[in-house]
Amino acid sequence: MDKEIFNNQIKNMSNYIMFIIKAKQVELTPFLKAKNRAPIALSMGAPVDKVPDFVINKAKEYLDIPSLHTYSTPKGEMKFLEAVSKRMKERFGVELSPKDEIFSLIGSKEGISNLLKALINPKEIEEEKDVILIPAPGYASYSQMIKAQGARAYGISLNEENNYMPNLDEVFDKYIKEGNDPKKIKALFINYPNNPLGATATKEYLAHCVNFCLKHGILLVSDNAYCEMYFDEDYKPHSVFECEGAKDCAVEMYSFSKSYAMTGWRLGWACGNSTIITMLSRAKGTVDTGIFKVLQYAGADLLVSEEGQKYIDNQNEKFKNKIQKFVSGLNSLGYKVKMPKAAFYLWVEIPKRYKDCVQFADELLEKSGIVVVPGTAFDKNALRHIRLSVVASDEDLSEVIRRMREDGFSFE
Ligand SMILES: Cc1ncc(COP(=O)(O)O)c(C=O)c1O
Repeated sequence: MDKEIFNNQIKNMSNYIMFIIKAKQVELTPFLKAKNRAPIALSMGAPVDKVPDFVINKAKEYLDIPSLHTYSTPKGEMKFLEAVSKRMKERFGVELSPKDEIFSLIGSKEGISNLLKALINPKEIEEEKDVILIPAPGYASYSQMIKAQGARAYGISLNEENNYMPNLDEVFDKYIKEGNDPKKIKALFINYPNNPLGATATKEYLAHCVNFCLKHGILLVSDNAYCEMYFDEDYKPHSVFECEGAKDCAVEMYSFSKSYAMTGWRLGWACGNSTIITMLSRAKGTVDTGIFKVLQYAGADLLVSEEGQKYIDNQNEKFKNKIQKFVSGLNSLGYKVKMPKAAFYLWVEIPKRYKDCVQFADELLEKSGIVVVPGTAFDKNALRHIRLSVVASDEDLSEVIRRMREDGFSFE
């Protein structure tokens, strides 16, 4: 089959980095097992913990109801939308109408992709492309999804100097000075807590983002996938809808994947400005017919249950201890890793003797069976970092430190 017949953006695209890494891990498994280095995955952001018993029991009950086995709608069942509204009110104190300000998602990745489809006018020529401002480093899918839709991602650097909350007016000035067209910007993506940095944002900074988007007439897309994963009440994540004016420009994406370890359920929601929600609904209506009602019903019960909140609290305590122990282990090997404020990722500087993060990640896998992601997956300039997902069991994490020590992966 001639590849030429396919869409130009898609045919020139490489596979998603996490799936490339996974394929390499699978291919090397027999060889690694033979030398007592069976792979330990610190690559994907997928918790391995058991999902809440509560949601499993609810799903089992709902499976017996015949009417829940028919098509749902892309928007979602009213029970689900009402539960989201209640949760948003209880957790953030924000009012959102189940009728026209909330929409179900088949995971937040799907929602972001379909929102981009609704937003972007695809172009082939680079200078003509719509621009989406994204965090750098940031979730690897953003740049790939933007590219797939025929638009251009413009990375905004998050670093220690700007406390991971860059001044957007300065970013805009820089964008103009570089000769870019301001009219091409369609949206600002923010992600706090951030993947891969674990950085959080203050409410004041979120208000700065809202004001910037209102001033420039662009969308604010807040990816809040990690809002329930935090280790310190002082850094408890916010919703942008706690800020004045947000409903005039913003949409926020939520997920069951991380806080409830329900990655396989593919359950989430978008909420906010009703025009954005309407446009998202048009894009989604052409490609999906909603989430299995049983999952929506069980998820709805979980969202507003005490059991759900207890699960989140226990997970946060567990992750805090697990990450602290792992950070100490890495630092005992000479690394300079800080405890993240939220989420379960570590952004680790690589030893000087390696050419770049790809070489380091390859050697960690091939020599020691430790699967990590090169920093360049999150920011093309992040040549000297890798990302570790601290999702493995305590035993596996101790084994990672032991192998790194034994196999010569100390920092110095
Ligand atoms: C920042 C961020 N957003 C969204 C997602 C997608 O999550 P899901 O589609 O499982 O809801 C991820 C997954 O790793 C992520 O890290």
